[in-house]
Amino acid sequence: MKRLIGLVIGLMVFGLWVVSAAGNGLPDDLAGYLSWHRGNSQKSFAESAHPIAKDIYFNDTAAETVMSKNFPYAEGTVFLKERTDIETLMVSTIYGMRKVAGFDPANGDWQYAVFEREGSSGKFMGGWMESSGSAMCIGCHTTSKDKDYTFLTYLAN
Ligand code: HEC
Repeated sequence: MKRLIGLVIGLMVFGLWVVSAAGNGLPDDLAGYLSWHRGNSQKSFAESAHPIAKDIYFNDTAAETVMSKNFPYAEGTVFLKERTDIETLMVSTIYGMRKVAGFDPANGDWQYAVFEREGSSGKFMGGWMESSGSAMCIGCHTTSKDKDYTFLTYLAN
């Protein structure tokens, strides 16, 4: 019985944590990303530029193109990639890509973002970057230009 009560309390705490995720420091339009589509069914441990233990989320606008493979993506597409620190099991970083018409036509009109969780407040700091600040992201994502700068490798995970 004690165990059951423990489980119920645990679930309640988890529920509160999910609800309070809205105050996680992310911009309002991203705060609910945990209810978006997840691109990988199991956590991705593929080695790439991004550290291991990853989950990739994308919104409905992105999903239409992910399903049809009819590139390019429409304006309003957003991808977020979570990095979980395998020592603390906390999400430490969220990387973003969003389509903004006219933002950077030479590089597919993608805007890139990095949000880092700040240790003391637990909130995500950072934001969407100017294209000049995301040369590194662009440089590598250009190698997947045939899929409109996304890799989508994790879909098979
Ligand atoms: C050296 C290559 C490289 C660099 C640099 C890089 N990425 Fe990626 N990115 C990848 C690969 C490979 C994937 C596919 C998932 C995986 O295995 O990590 C990916 C996936 C993503 C995704 C999920 C959408 C997709 O492409 O399928 C986002 C969002 C993303 N990266 C954001 C960024 C941001 C923001 C930066 C710069 C701060 C960046 N990336 C820099 C290689 C790179």
